[in-house]
Amino acid sequence: MVAKALEVRPLTETFGAEVLGVTLSGEISPDTLAEIKALWLRYGVLLFRGQAMTKDDQVGFSRLIGPLEIHIRAEWLNDTHPELLQITNIRKDGKAIGALADGEVGWHFDQIYLPKPAIGSLLYSIKIPPVGGGTHFADMTTAYARLPQHLRQIVDGRNAIQSYVAFNTMYSTDANATQTTMTPDIAHPLVRTHPYSGRRALYICPGMTVKICGLPDDESRAVLDELFAWQARDEFVYRHDWALGDGLLWDNACTMHRRDDFDGAHERLMYRTTILPQPDRAIPF
Ligand code: SIN
Repeated sequence: MVAKALEVRPLTETFGAEVLGVTLSGEISPDTLAEIKALWLRYGVLLFRGQAMTKDDQVGFSRLIGPLEIHIRAEWLNDTHPELLQITNIRKDGKAIGALADGEVGWHFDQIYLPKPAIGSLLYSIKIPPVGGGTHFADMTTAYARLPQHLRQIVDGRNAIQSYVAFNTMYSTDANATQTTMTPDIAHPLVRTHPYSGRRALYICPGMTVKICGLPDDESRAVLDELFAWQARDEFVYRHDWALGDGLLWDNACTMHRRDDFDGAHERLMYRTTILPQPDRAIPF
């Protein structure tokens, strides 16, 4: 019998798709999983509406995509499920119990600052404000493919420095001394080749990319500013306005994201798993 293909509704002309009729909780058949993986590779961002995932469900499904990373910010992890990074403005004793607590957050890739950056994330909405707090995604495969020639000549074959310290300074979320030691500034290619698809995507972001290696500081700053403006053009962006029960699975190798401001009088709580590439390419994805 031929498996029934999942129903998909594209979110933009180039990337992002809503996947209909899939429940991420409980058992997922091998055919459905294979299709979700293929869609994730093809579209970069997958939206699953109306989910009712337990913490175990979210962790279990995410593990089917790849090994999970435990975020170094132990203070933001869920008590019972450390694979879940809490993203929330909810506070205990005056301190936010999660990452990215308040307001707007600029464009970034999850964990671009690590030697082995994440390949995916699954963000699941538990509490959302009535307005605002939307998450925008930008398609870096298309941004690279359409890059003007003078910029392409600069980015190809070059590295840039990624800085978690710079990100934390921007948002006043400084890590402790041990965590800071674990996350020194690091160089990655400005163009990331996807480990599964082989497609090339721009891999810089205003939140964490501080310098292009091999260029004088003023030239590096000017090129980065031009690239940051380019990669955030409307033609590359999908904006997601959250509903309760939405799950968004994105590809960190070829999309970056940012968040809109929202009224801090309302609680916002999301759980995020962060998915690593398979350590061994011999293991089929
Ligand atoms: C994230 O950057 O991982 C979360 C974005 C959001 O809070 O919508």
